[in-house]
Amino acid sequence: MSVRRLAEVQPESFAFTPENETWAEGIIAKYPEGRQASAVISLLWRAQAQHDYWLPRAAIEEVARKLGMPYIRVLEVATFYTMFNLAPVGEHFVQLCGTTPCLLRGSDAIKAVLRERVGESGKVTADGKFSWIEVECLGACCNAPMVQINDDYYEDLTPENFGRLLDDLAAGRPVTIGSQTGRVSSEPTGGLSALTSLYGVDGVSGPQSQATTEAAAQAVEHETPPAPQADGAAFFGEAEKLAQEHAEHVAMPETPAEETQARTDIDPPEKPAAEPPSDAKA
Ligand code: FES
Repeated sequence: MSVRRLAEVQPESFAFTPENETWAEGIIAKYPEGRQASAVISLLWRAQAQHDYWLPRAAIEEVARKLGMPYIRVLEVATFYTMFNLAPVGEHFVQLCGTTPCLLRGSDAIKAVLRERVGESGKVTADGKFSWIEVECLGACCNAPMVQINDDYYEDLTPENFGRLLDDLAAGRPVTIGSQTGRVSSEPTGGLSALTSLYGVDGVSGPQSQATTEAAAQAVEHETPPAPQADGAAFFGEAEKLAQEHAEHVAMPETPAEETQARTDIDPPEKPAAEPPSDAKA
């Protein structure tokens, strides 16, 4: 990780808006007396959101003042967590995941697009529209490679669809959040590949297993009616019936004596070792 320093050019002052001031008081009040410092991350985060998603020195000082903390303690928090930006970022702030799953799925190609279209990491474009940095795993590895832009994730990226995404953002056109290839959430791209016996190989048609399909085919061959297919409802109905039968046979102890007896039945005490035969002693 690179050294994190405050921006060279700083605003003169920072003050929470009246709305954020009220919000901050509410957050601080959640903590017991003497523990107000626990609100430090929440307040820094709010200050950053208010200040175009970067934290100037004056905002760090204001948070320290509100929480009664030494400035250096708040600065330590702000410089430790990479979620806090210490210098101005673009209107569209791109965080590119470069961790192994995304790397294996082509994040380098996405980085090349950023270098070509946006420029050097950490620098804001001349029109103020974009800046980018590389970060560690953002927890969307199933849909790698991916980026976070401001508060949203954009996944299943290719150089082509990512280029289009940047074009749309630059032009102010609406964009699709999430997968850029149209898959829902992190469903498998090639269709259902697990639990096919429960949900059907096409993932839609309902319970149907290879075994029941073959049984039906054999039944037709021998002119015997096929066995009914086991479906989810029947399965769970049968499980519920078995549980009820079990409960009927296992009466719950109602008194301490019954409970002691029940425990003894389950786990009888060990018998003392038998005395060795007298001739063995000799
Ligand atoms: S490795 Fe990229 S989101 Fe996890």
